[in-house]
Amino acid sequence: MTAFEDLLRFVERETTFASSYYDDDYLDRRISARMRRCGTETYEAYLDVLRDDEDERAELLDTLSVNVTQFFRDTKVWTALRDVLLEAAEETRSLNVWSAACADGREPYSIAMLALDAGIPARRIDILATDIDEDALARARAGRYESTRTADIREQLDFLDDPGAYVDKDGDRGFVVADHVKDLVTFERHDLITDDPKSGFDVVACRNVCIYIDKQYKRPILDTVSASVKTGGHLVLGQTETLPGEVKERFEAADPRIRVYRRQPED
Ligand SMILES: C[S@@+](CC[C@H](N)C(=O)[O-])C[C@H]1O[C@@H](n2cnc3c(N)ncnc32)[C@H](O)[C@@H]1O
Repeated sequence: MTAFEDLLRFVERETTFASSYYDDDYLDRRISARMRRCGTETYEAYLDVLRDDEDERAELLDTLSVNVTQFFRDTKVWTALRDVLLEAAEETRSLNVWSAACADGREPYSIAMLALDAGIPARRIDILATDIDEDALARARAGRYESTRTADIREQLDFLDDPGAYVDKDGDRGFVVADHVKDLVTFERHDLITDDPKSGFDVVACRNVCIYIDKQYKRPILDTVSASVKTGGHLVLGQTETLPGEVKERFEAADPRIRVYRRQPED
């Protein structure tokens, strides 16, 4: 076993991070960044640091867990999604949406706010939001978000007609998602690679997961999410993600530039 593999095994055993799912180049880049911060030059030396230093294990876990997200990330998609939600709401009594790999909740809360902003009644909106990472889910349930040095959290809501209607001020730099929005979203842990698909969703969003994941696991993820969309429903992927051939046959790209696909009836 190489020193790098040894290191990954340790990470898998001692932290909650499922390193075996991730692309090796991605893992190497992130681990090397931590190694530079610690002044270690070899994987062996860094493994020694990790064995002795609980804080560094936490730092590494934080670096590896790509929870990067924002409200209304990639605005073009959200413009298309507003129409998709309105169309689905006309066809169905209860609008069922799954935000798969929801990170700290900004994506499902964006969906909930968008649906309300588009005039869909709250009683008809039901959003399931899942992630593999329990810490991210705990932050999502709390629904508290703060501006950082580089990102103004309130600006991220500017996409909405009435942003103030969905959040309450929380200190000088942040907000908490209002209870009437939180009530529309249920959070639960789900592993897109090993857990079962779900079924009957009008819309499934699975964005910006596959870009980090090892090639062999992309297909199981895309099989899981695509099987969970009902006929005529929509699947939304990240800007740089695509559907593999056989899965693509069951979907029609509404607009190929924005990765929104509609599930076709079976022959
Ligand atoms: C970059 S975030 C994407 C967040 C959001 N979908 C977006 O586009 O803004 C990637 C998320 O995928 C989650 N993830 C990674 N592997 C997963 C798996 N096997 N099953 C479910 N979630 C996973 C991570 O925990 C992380 O929260």
